[in-house]
Amino acid sequence: MIMNEDTEKRLQQIFSYYKTQPQEQELMLQMLREIQDITGQLSTSILDRAASEINIKRSVLSCLVKYAKDLKPCAYDHKIVACTGPRCARKNGMELLRILKEELKPDKDGISRDGQILLTTRCCLKHCKTAPNLMIDDELVPHVTKEQLPELLRKLRSPS
Ligand code: FES
Repeated sequence: MIMNEDTEKRLQQIFSYYKTQPQEQELMLQMLREIQDITGQLSTSILDRAASEINIKRSVLSCLVKYAKDLKPCAYDHKIVACTGPRCARKNGMELLRILKEELKPDKDGISRDGQILLTTRCCLKHCKTAPNLMIDDELVPHVTKEQLPELLRKLRSPS
C-alpha cells in the first residue's frame, strides 16, 4: 500500500505504544494485528521496521507471523500490474513494461531485486480508453508515460 500521512501517523502511534510495553507474545501479536489492520498485510519491510522501532528481534516477529493464522505475510510491499493488452500495447504499453523490468530487475516470481515491488502483467485491465494503463496497489493509473515512471517508482519506494 502507498503510505500517506494518516497511515504513517497511525503506525507511529502503534510503535510508540508497543515500545513501552513488555515484549510478551500476546502483546506482540496484538501489535502485528493492529499494523495489519492498517496495511492490509505484513510485508517484509513493515516487519523490518516494526522490529527496529520497538527494538525486538526480527526473527521473533517472523515466527509470530508464521504461526498466527490470522496474520498475512507478504513477500513484497507494492504490486504493479502492467497491461499487455492490444490497446495498451499500441500506445507504448510494452515499452513501459520493458522500462519497469529494467528498473526493477524482477526475479522469476516477479519480485523486484530490492524485494519491495511485485511486477506482473494482465492482458487487459478493462480500461482500454485510457491506455496505456498500469494498476498500482489496485489503483488504476491511466495514460501512463515513460517520463512518469521514475516518479511513480520513487513514491512507492519512499516510506511516506
Ligand atoms: S488493453 Fe490495456 S486496458 Fe485494455
